Amino acid sequence: MARVTVEVPGHPYAVLVGHGALQELPRLVREMGASAAAVVTDTTVAGHWAGVVREGLTGAGVHAVVHAVEPGEQAKSLAVLGLVLEFLEESAIDRHGVLVALGGGTVGDLAGFAAAVWLRGIRCVQVPTTLLAMVDSSVGGKTGVNSARTKNGIGAFWQPAAVVADLAVLSTLAEDDYRAAFGEIVKYAVAMDRDLGDRLEADRDGLLARSALALEPVVARCVELKARVVASDEREGGPRQILNYGHTVGHALENASGYAAAHGRAIAFGMEAAARIAVEMGLCQPGLVARQDALLEAFALPGVLPRTTADAVLAAVPRDKKSRAGSVRWVLPREMGRAQVGVEVPGDVVAGVVRSLLP
Ligand SMILES: NC(=O)c1ccc[n+]([C@@H]2O[C@H](COP(=O)([O-])OP(=O)(O)OC[C@H]3O[C@@H](n4cnc5c(N)ncnc54)[C@H](O)[C@@H]3O)[C@@H](O)[C@H]2O)c1
Ligand SMILES: [Zn+2]
Repeated sequence: MARVTVEVPGHPYAVLVGHGALQELPRLVREMGASAAAVVTDTTVAGHWAGVVREGLTGAGVHAVVHAVEPGEQAKSLAVLGLVLEFLEESAIDRHGVLVALGGGTVGDLAGFAAAVWLRGIRCVQVPTTLLAMVDSSVGGKTGVNSARTKNGIGAFWQPAAVVADLAVLSTLAEDDYRAAFGEIVKYAVAMDRDLGDRLEADRDGLLARSALALEPVVARCVELKARVVASDEREGGPRQILNYGHTVGHALENASGYAAAHGRAIAFGMEAAARIAVEMGLCQPGLVARQDALLEAFALPGVLPRTTADAVLAAVPRDKKSRAGSVRWVLPREMGRAQVGVEVPGDVVAGVVRSLLP
């Protein structure tokens, strides 16, 4: 089992990564001195894993109650948040209670936000059950729901008290959800860690087979990389922006297609665009595009994307004049494992690249 500490000033926390890590959860919650645990999950995850979690907690003498929301992005709404808060109230979860967020990024964001606002903040243990949530969303403390027009428009920074990533729970995850997460994993490799790129190439088969042996070092490494930037820049003023590599065009694609693509696939497409933009800007060699394309291709990414047009995607890319500081902060790769944040890119360069990739 790997253990990574996220050194956020004032409230450091541990991330456990490994096959069987869930067995550690009851002890962890008990050692937190929790009066009770409220497990928030979705109905799909509940069917596979809520029983094990509840029994483990109860067995350790922690009173545990479970609330399952409908699966999917629609759960990230104020209405569903209201239901979660009602559940916490009805279950008499007090300030010494702990919320266990058992699910993918959707549940993690929703339940993490509920923990942030219930009684002005109770402790939350993130138990990510998708690969995307393990390598990305469960770590770093961004929580929230969507507003009428803005994804993640309503939220808070609320760091978890601990994160427990049990690789065994990935066994029930749908193949498409599993694969898409490699978009974020390749992101870490290209933007931050050349060695991780080498490992992804070498261990591709084991990773695709969901072997814990292959997965543990990769997930732990991604968590380490995220932990490092989060610790130095909790609120994304500077260094944390590197995690947005591929996200400028990726978010635009998600937006233009009504969030029809899995996030990791959209990000993979966004990285294809960003690397080509970096070449156009003279920031990196064309060889990087080829290497990144091959790495993505090894995990069948970006794969089939929703039908959209270059015009629709370009309309959704934030433009210089509109954004607050007068510039869009592009994150562009310089070489494998190294990227630069805060690059300004002329609109015609962006348009040229996106038109070369989409009809
Ligand atoms: N907070 C952050 O820093 C951050 C970062 C990235 C993404 N996100 C958010 O994460 C969300 C996407 O998260 P996601 O990709 O994990 O999707 P998800 O949470 O919607 O899960 C995808 C699907 O897999 C199912 N599922 C989850 N775990 C399972 C398991 N072990 N077995 C079987 N089925 C399982 C879910 O029920 C759901 O249907 C988005 O809302 C995004 O905004 C947040
Ligand atoms: Zn992302």
